[in-house]
Amino acid sequence: MSSAKNATYLLKQDGAEACRHETFHFFQSRGCANRAPRRLASQHLVWQLHTGYSLHPKIEVRDGMTIADLGTGTGIWALQLAPSLLPNSKIVGYDISDAHLPHKEYWPSNAEFGVLDSMKDVPESLEGQFDVVHIRMWAYIPRENDPSPLIRHAAKLLSKLKKSILYFVSFLGFIQFKIDSWTKLTILFTGPGGYLQWEDARFGSFVTRGDAACEIRNMLDRVHLPSKLDFQWLEELDQHVQSAGVGFEVLDAQYGTWAPHLRPLAISNTMLAMQNLGAALDGLKQKFPSIPSQAEWLNSLEPLDASIGKLCGGQLYWPPVTLLARKYSQA
Ligand SMILES: C[S@@+](CC[C@H](N)C(=O)[O-])C[C@H]1O[C@@H](n2cnc3c(N)ncnc32)[C@H](O)[C@@H]1O
Repeated sequence: MSSAKNATYLLKQDGAEACRHETFHFFQSRGCANRAPRRLASQHLVWQLHTGYSLHPKIEVRDGMTIADLGTGTGIWALQLAPSLLPNSKIVGYDISDAHLPHKEYWPSNAEFGVLDSMKDVPESLEGQFDVVHIRMWAYIPRENDPSPLIRHAAKLLSKLKKSILYFVSFLGFIQFKIDSWTKLTILFTGPGGYLQWEDARFGSFVTRGDAACEIRNMLDRVHLPSKLDFQWLEELDQHVQSAGVGFEVLDAQYGTWAPHLRPLAISNTMLAMQNLGAALDGLKQKFPSIPSQAEWLNSLEPLDASIGKLCGGQLYWPPVTLLARKYSQA
């Protein structure tokens, strides 16, 4: 496994960027080897119970299909899906860091994992190699409300419509169709260009109940503000995917919430993330005095923690967004 680049790509020298880097790293829980995997496992369970699937049921499953999981973390989604794939299929989990990737001894025979920065260009050797690209929990990563580098990266990985067949179809006289119509028509001859499946957290729409939860919500804004994190794109994910200019058509997009019976689990997962965040705050506060200190943060979390689980007690959780898109033309 290649060594982690430790996400240094994020480290531009301006303060806001450094701050974003730190808030990003609370998800990595640097130096706390088991915290991030535990949080990701709990998060995975919430997602599984919410969607009821690993692979979206509209995706046609076939022998020999290839799947990429971007920002795979511990690879938990890929590890769950791998044994249920048809023969000769392959799933590859990529992450910018190998900190939490499963060691080779635990890889299923049809799965592998490696380091890849999915905010950058796709290496030529990977272009068009996948039938499905899966993305989950990237909310904290894109900057300035712009997930387009990730969307373009995903599109490039997906299988291509063969140019030669496009030209042949054009030659046969289909040229009079509008570009969109004939690329779709060409699907009949060549098959689709692949699927993008995405699940993410709408961090801009945190749900709160009770004073203690509101207090944490306000403090979170104090953390996000200097890092210039903008979560608006998560409320319009389908528009970003559709308008990225890489040939995606959105088949399904759901901006729902958790079913009531899943909320305790969603709240518990949010609390794990909030506790992890505390560890990053003192470092951040040195650069941005408006950010709460770790002590202030943990003091405020305490009453929330105590009220959760009581009848009509505190609630703090982010609502989900899920999306399925299909690529109809070349990136
Ligand atoms: C919140 S975790 C989600 C992990 C996994 N997708 C899941 O749902 O369990 C986000 C992951 O994205 C990875 N990541 C961050 N920036 C990345 C980049 N530019 N390219 C690839 N992975 C990245 C992080 O290292 C981290 O493992």
